[in-house]
Amino acid sequence: MKNLFVLGITSALAIIFVFNAHAAGDASKGKASYAVCLACHGADGMGNKALNAPAIAGQSTWYLERQLKNFKAGIRGADPKDTYGMQMRPMALTLPTDQAIADMAAYVSAMPAKSVPSTVKGDAAAGKAAYMLCQSCHGPAGGGNKALNAPRLSGQHDWYLVRQIKNFKAGARGAKSGDAYGAQMRPMAMTLATEETINNVAAYIATFK
Ligand code: HEC
Ligand code: HEC
Repeated sequence: MKNLFVLGITSALAIIFVFNAHAAGDASKGKASYAVCLACHGADGMGNKALNAPAIAGQSTWYLERQLKNFKAGIRGADPKDTYGMQMRPMALTLPTDQAIADMAAYVSAMPAKSVPSTVKGDAAAGKAAYMLCQSCHGPAGGGNKALNAPRLSGQHDWYLVRQIKNFKAGARGAKSGDAYGAQMRPMAMTLATEETINNVAAYIATFK
């Protein structure tokens, strides 16, 4: 009886171990598949304005995995209004399994984030007031909050932030069924009524280092 109990515990642990080994990303495998991504996001993962590709280096694994799965499933990047998301979608489709996505996220997340130049002209002080609402989810310095599913915004290119806020407002992102987290963000983007307010918030976020 006692032996059976020990055997039971051991196999339960073995199952948990196997499950974790599957779920955890292997950065070295991700590195090999990153050859596809390099052309747009750069060898350092810091993105490329000329190619409209955002910085992804140092972003949280849970957010990277979710976005890659959303692109694959057509929850993101499948709206005809979403020109740049549509360029990214076929790239996510090169990652055949959830494990390949986890491996990629592990590699990208481990890349060190570098500073980005500011490009958007806006009134950062006015943006700070508008950011009061945003900080409840994204954090006072844009560090993100896993428990609230809100990604890190600090260190991201300001032109990309502006584009995403406009996409959320227009329903090019966050309006597809199955996009539970995009749906939480959409009404927040709606609070930024004008182009000027959007630029101001982006200019404020750009002050986070
Ligand atoms: C042809 C250029 C191109 C290639 C190659 C490419 N991407 Fe992208 N990627 C983009 C663009 C453009 C966007 C921005 C889409 C948007 O505006 O919504 C993007 C967005 C993303 C995002 C979302 C970032 C965020 O903050 O939400 C992730 C993650 C990403 N790419 C990862 C990858 C990975 C991993 C690969 C390789 C498998 C890859 N990309 C290959 C162009 C590319
Ligand atoms: C209720 C919580 C919440 C609030 C408040 C909020 N957000 Fe978000 N935000 C989210 C979530 C969740 C996501 C991730 C959506 C997804 O998974 O596609 C997100 C995504 C984003 C993105 C896309 C980041 C990327 O890498 O593509 C931007 C930009 C953004 N938020 C800006 C803002 C701004 C600016 C405000 C304030 C006006 C704000 N958010 C307020 C929850 C929130």
